[in-house]
Amino acid sequence: MATTAAEYVARHEIPVAEVRTDIGRATRPKIVGPDIPEPPFPIALAGPVQKGFGRGGKDLGCPTANLPDDSITPISTVLKTGVYYGYAQVVPPEERRTAFRPEDVKVLPMVMSLGWNPFYKNEKLTAEIHIMHAFQTDFYGHEMKAIILGYIRPELDYISREALIEDIEVDKQVALNCLQRPAYQRYVNEPAFALGGSDPRKPLRFLEEYII
Ligand SMILES: Cc1cc2nc3c(=O)[nH]c(=O)nc-3n(C[C@H](O)[C@H](O)[C@H](O)COP(=O)(O)O)c2cc1C
Repeated sequence: MATTAAEYVARHEIPVAEVRTDIGRATRPKIVGPDIPEPPFPIALAGPVQKGFGRGGKDLGCPTANLPDDSITPISTVLKTGVYYGYAQVVPPEERRTAFRPEDVKVLPMVMSLGWNPFYKNEKLTAEIHIMHAFQTDFYGHEMKAIILGYIRPELDYISREALIEDIEVDKQVALNCLQRPAYQRYVNEPAFALGGSDPRKPLRFLEEYII
């Protein structure tokens, strides 16, 4: 059953997103978190990409791959809402492989938003991953694997779409800086990501398995 906002806030004892202007956001730190991932990270996820409202690509210039609804409750039991960074990989089915270039199926840096998207006043908790790569084809319904390695910031409300876009751009930069650190970089070679290495029909299921 879907988690309601009230249940979520009570469980995590966090405030619902505060309204923010863009004042001061430019001075955000450009690298965050420890030099080595600390628990609960890394968190490994895999599952079919679900369609969102499509606003990420259209409104924000930042297309996102939504994690399936049934993964949200387990994720929200270990993670508070907010923006996270890590790596992701799209695993197209055999019959769609030719639509993807070799660079599209690599392990790529990603940012993830877990929350209610207060700017859009969503009524449902979602987890959306933006893979930092220019894909030439969409991958709805395809398997996606991801490893979440760290937390960037809480989710916020914004006075304008431009302010949200600007903050997402900073998130991407922060994520790339964070992932440059050797203890994070090594996850690119995590065997769970190997195409054909682990059985793609038997992926790591949401939060059932942590990779250490
Ligand atoms: C890195 C990143 C950070 C985000 N931060 C926020 C945020 O602070 N507040 C918010 O309302 N939405 C935030 N979003 C979510 C966007 O509002 C969301 O991706 C957009 O509504 C697209 O959703 P859709 O694909 O379901 O249409 C963020 C998304 C990403 C990728």
